[in-house]
Amino acid sequence: MSQSSSARLVEELRGWVVGHAPGTRLPATRALVRDHGVGPGTVQTALRTLTAEGLVDTRPGVGTFVAAGPTGRRLRPADYSWQAGALGAASTAGTAVAATATPGSGDDGPLRPTPEDAVSLHNGYPDRRLLPEKLVRQALVRAARSDVAVAAAPRAGVAELRQWFARELGRHTPAGTTPAAAADVTVLPGTQSGLAAIFRAVASPGAPVVIESPTYWGAILAAGESGVTLVPAVGGGDGPEPVELDRTFARTGARAFYAQPRYANPTGTTWSPTRRREILDVLARHGAFLIEDDWANDFGMTEDPEHAPLAAQDDAGRVIYLRSLTKSVSPALRVGAVIARGPVGERIRANVTASAMYVSPLLQVAALDVVSQPAWRTHRASLRGQLRSRRDLLVDAVHTHLPEAVLSGVPGGGLNLWVRLPDTTDLHRLVVDCERAGVMIASGNGLFPAEPTGKFIRLNFAGPDPGRFDPAVRTIAEVLARCC
Ligand SMILES: Cc1ncc(COP(=O)(O)O)c(C=O)c1O
Repeated sequence: MSQSSSARLVEELRGWVVGHAPGTRLPATRALVRDHGVGPGTVQTALRTLTAEGLVDTRPGVGTFVAAGPTGRRLRPADYSWQAGALGAASTAGTAVAATATPGSGDDGPLRPTPEDAVSLHNGYPDRRLLPEKLVRQALVRAARSDVAVAAAPRAGVAELRQWFARELGRHTPAGTTPAAAADVTVLPGTQSGLAAIFRAVASPGAPVVIESPTYWGAILAAGESGVTLVPAVGGGDGPEPVELDRTFARTGARAFYAQPRYANPTGTTWSPTRRREILDVLARHGAFLIEDDWANDFGMTEDPEHAPLAAQDDAGRVIYLRSLTKSVSPALRVGAVIARGPVGERIRANVTASAMYVSPLLQVAALDVVSQPAWRTHRASLRGQLRSRRDLLVDAVHTHLPEAVLSGVPGGGLNLWVRLPDTTDLHRLVVDCERAGVMIASGNGLFPAEPTGKFIRLNFAGPDPGRFDPAVRTIAEVLARCC
C-alpha cells in the first residue's frame, strides 16, 4: 500500500465520518477492504489515525463509531461564504473591534490579552489590587440575596442609583446654579455604550463632531459606528486651543464636542480654569454641546475643587456628562451613567433603551451598595496615594531608561503616561517586539481620530506588579534601540 493511497483512505473516511451522526457505526473492516480496494492493515492504520484525531471511537469486539462531541464534527468545513454577499463592505469600526479582539493578530492596541508573565502596560483597566474587592464581593452577595436577583429594572435605571449619580455631580454645583436631578440621569451598562447613543442623539450620520486628538479609542470606535464624521481639535498641554476650536466650529458647522476635560486618556491633560471658561464660551457661541467624559473621576491623585466637572456649572443643558464606575468599582460591574438635561436627555435615553433595554438591577444595586459604604471613601483616599506612587515609579523609569522620550506631562490623575518617541521609530515593530520580550505597550496610532501626528505609546501605571515597571521600561529602551 503506497503512502498516497493510505492517506487517501484516511481522507475518504474523514469525509464519511463528518457526514454521519455521532454514534453511527462505521462499516466493518471487511467492507472497507472491499469498497476501498485496500488491505486490512491499511484499514487498521487509517482507523488508528481517526481515533487519534478524536473522530472515531473503537470499542474492541463491538465496532468503530463516529465519536460524540464537538471533536467528532470538527472537520466539517463550515461554509459561511453566503454571508459575504449579505454583509457587504465592512465598516472600519467593525474591523477595528475584530482586530483588537484577536490574540496573535499582530494587533498593537490596548485590548489585546496579556500573555502569562508579561508586564501589562497597555491595558486600560486597573490592577485588581486597586479595586475595593471586599466591598464588591459583599455587595454582590447582598444583591444576589435580594429581590433584584429576579427583577427587571426601570429603563432609566434604579431610582436610588440615579439619585446617587445626580448628587455626586451636584456636590460641585456652585450657588445660583440649578443642580442636575435624578430625572436627568440614565444608567448605562458602562459608558462605552453611552458614547454611540450620545453621538447618534446629537449628530445625524455624516454630520461633524469635534473631538480632542489624541483621544480615547472607544470614542473613535463609537463615532465610527454612529456614522458621524470626527473633526480633530487642535490642542496642547492645557487642553484644546480656544481660538482654533472657534475656527473649527465656524468652518464645519459642528454642534458637538467630545472631550475629557480632566486626566484625559491618553494624554493626562487637565484643562485649566481659564481654558474651561473659554471653551464653554466657544460652545455657547456656536450653539454646541460639550460631551464631557469624566471617566477618571475616581482616579484623581488629589482632591482639587478647581477641577470639578464642567457639567456641575451648567444648568443650560449644554454639557452631556458621562461618569463610569466600571474601572474604579470593578470591571465586572459594568455600570455608568449619562446626565443630560432637556430634550437631548430623552433622545439619549431612547437610544440607550433601543440597544440595551435596561441595565441589570443586580449590577446597579451592587454598584450603589459599594459606593454607599463608608469604606468606599477610605478606599478612594488610599487609591489616590497608590496611583501617585505608581505614576512616579513609571515616570522615573521613563526618565532613567528612555532619555530620548518626551512625556506629555506628569498627570495629576488617570491611569496613563503618554510618551512621544523619536519620529524614526517603527512603532508597530516596537510594540510587537516588546510583546515578544514580555512587555505589553499600546501604540498611540489608534488613538488619533485622523493621521497620527507623531510616534507615541501609552503606558498604563495602574496594571499589576509595579515592581516590574523599571525592568519593563529598560526592555522597551532596548527594543527601541533596534526599532529606530
Ligand atoms: C476615556 C474613556 N471613556 C470611556 C471609557 C469606557 O468606560 P466603561 O465603558 O468601562 O464605563 C473608557 C474606558 O477605557 C475611557 O478610557
